[in-house]
Amino acid sequence: MTTHRRLLATGFALGLTALLPGAAAAQGNLTVYCSVQEEWCRPMMQAFERATGVRVAMTRKSSGETMTQIRAEAANPRGDIWWGGTGDPHMQAAEENLTEEYRSPRMADLHPWATRQAEQARFRTIGIYAGALGYSYNTTELARRRIAAPTCWADLAKPEFRGEIQVADPNTSGTAYTMLATLLQVMGEEPAFTFLSAMHRNVNQYTRSGAAPARAAATGETLVGITFLHDAVTQKIAGAPVEIVAPCEGTGYEIGSMSIIRGARNMENARRFYDWALTPEAQAIAGQANSYQLPSNRNAPIPPQAPRFENIRLIDYDFARWGSAAERTRVISPWEREVRAGAR
Ligand code: G6P
Repeated sequence: MTTHRRLLATGFALGLTALLPGAAAAQGNLTVYCSVQEEWCRPMMQAFERATGVRVAMTRKSSGETMTQIRAEAANPRGDIWWGGTGDPHMQAAEENLTEEYRSPRMADLHPWATRQAEQARFRTIGIYAGALGYSYNTTELARRRIAAPTCWADLAKPEFRGEIQVADPNTSGTAYTMLATLLQVMGEEPAFTFLSAMHRNVNQYTRSGAAPARAAATGETLVGITFLHDAVTQKIAGAPVEIVAPCEGTGYEIGSMSIIRGARNMENARRFYDWALTPEAQAIAGQANSYQLPSNRNAPIPPQAPRFENIRLIDYDFARWGSAAERTRVISPWEREVRAGAR
């Protein structure tokens, strides 16, 4: 081989090796706004990167906060896909034309509750998981205070729970908005606001993130934490002394959702993520990451620890209504005026 040809051959070999990382880079990037627990966001993004070679930049924020951010960035979108978080703000984003219509070929594999969400939003969002609302209490602290175990929503307004309850703020948290909408549906509007004002005297903190009160109940920082039941299950499985309550009057639930952001810079990868996130393999990551929602793909494994809807008194939550911008403003404004601003 002449020197020239040897050089060419070496150059070719070098070129090939250089191509390999180049090939991965050629898959491009994706910016994901993630609204589930960080512990689930991270392995989900890593698995997608491994499966596709796409590089993911992920930010975790609560559902209401993400909705506000997407609206603020509408003229110059920075995110490509919004994955997770309660369905109501996803529905609102769809209504406000902040998200993109997409019909995934995977839609046929989903439970009807997940596709109904898509249909109601003219295919600008889709259900990825479901979970019921309730609360948990710290059994050690309850025994120490000699308080009777609560079983209903109404119990949380009793004077013995003064300063003992933690719940998120419905402005930032989809969990807290689900609670607000749930109580209005379970009790009727006037009685619900009366109840919320009475419970306000018992609230020690309105947190930004929805699941934080479950962690606080687990450590005994608060006696009661209002969250989705699966968030309390995560704590109980980790060994926390908590009891989990599906309230006796009945309760609401979320359809955790996913939407593609209108004007996404990485539209093709956003669709790729969307299709992948609906597969049984991707949805199985939840249970592995100690998140115990019900998956929307009919073939995805249901974590054995997931609270099953059959065992909970659920209301017929009207997602189209409570996910509308008008309803959201109509109920959050009086909550701020009449409930939050009240004396404690
Ligand atoms: C937790 C729950 C999710 C829920 C999310 C909403 O992560 O496990 O099921 O969708 O909270 O978060 P947010 O902070 O908006 O209440």
